[in-house]
Amino acid sequence: MTIAIAPVTPDFVAEIGDVDLSRPLSAEDLAAIKEAFFKYAVLIFPNQHLDQDQHLGFAANFGPLERSFTQERHGNKTRIRPELSDISNLNTENKIWAEDSWQRLYKLANRLWHADSSFKKVPAQASLLYARVIPPIGGQTEFADCRAAYDALPDDLKQRIDGLVAEHAIMYSRAKLGFLEFNEEDWKKMPPVPQVLVRTIPETGRKSIYIASHAGRIIGLPEKEGQALIESLMAHTTQRQFVYSHRWRQHDLVMWDNRTTLHRATQFEDLRHPRDLQRATVSDIANTCEQAGIAVPA
Ligand code: OGA
Ligand code: MN
Repeated sequence: MTIAIAPVTPDFVAEIGDVDLSRPLSAEDLAAIKEAFFKYAVLIFPNQHLDQDQHLGFAANFGPLERSFTQERHGNKTRIRPELSDISNLNTENKIWAEDSWQRLYKLANRLWHADSSFKKVPAQASLLYARVIPPIGGQTEFADCRAAYDALPDDLKQRIDGLVAEHAIMYSRAKLGFLEFNEEDWKKMPPVPQVLVRTIPETGRKSIYIASHAGRIIGLPEKEGQALIESLMAHTTQRQFVYSHRWRQHDLVMWDNRTTLHRATQFEDLRHPRDLQRATVSDIANTCEQAGIAVPA
């Protein structure tokens, strides 16, 4: 028997059943999952029982894994393996974080619409987020379909943005939250990277707006004009008709395509209830400009 697919909408978000991700998959099941992944962009696998190795093992079917950026950067003791990102409100002692902890401030950025690792030269392709503990209410994750958003643009705007390149940096999204004290060191460590504004997805031929809270400038446009374009595309892309809000159940694994979706965390009582998720992240194959054959100024 092969997997069961229950679409949430005709071409965005599907639930996948009749599959146990803790065990190696047959070639047939894996092919069916990949096909569904490209078609629906967000897949929900309910009721999976995965340890860290099994989670990483399933993710590795889709490409090379990223190392967790936060853990690398802060070089501190971690709750989970370094290939996994710790998406929890817990500290290394497994206690709910303090109101003024760096972890809490740092993860505030997840509340802004983003695509994972778009601030890296080679961004993330797929993210696989697994729910170990969820709060009783709140803490949904929202996803926006950037392909549908592209399709809905007026033709003149499509033409205007095709071929444009944006600069993404972690500092740009931090600045939106009011963190402004970056020094030259910070910029040197995580310099802005070029990413195309419109992607064509090889597996489907569909076009998609590629943008995020990390996008700060558009190459070749005056700074303020570029920012205005970025803001209006973000507002367009995240309109309700393009958005699915995921209400987590414990043991859901949700997998999304960062090339064609934006996502954001939502509020919950994070000083009162634990919320413990872990994320495996699959790298894209190259920088998006390289993939599109666009030369970028060094
Ligand atoms: C992520 C992320 C949102 C959430 O794991 O990349 O942005 O709701 N998570 O925790
Ligand atoms: Mn994210």
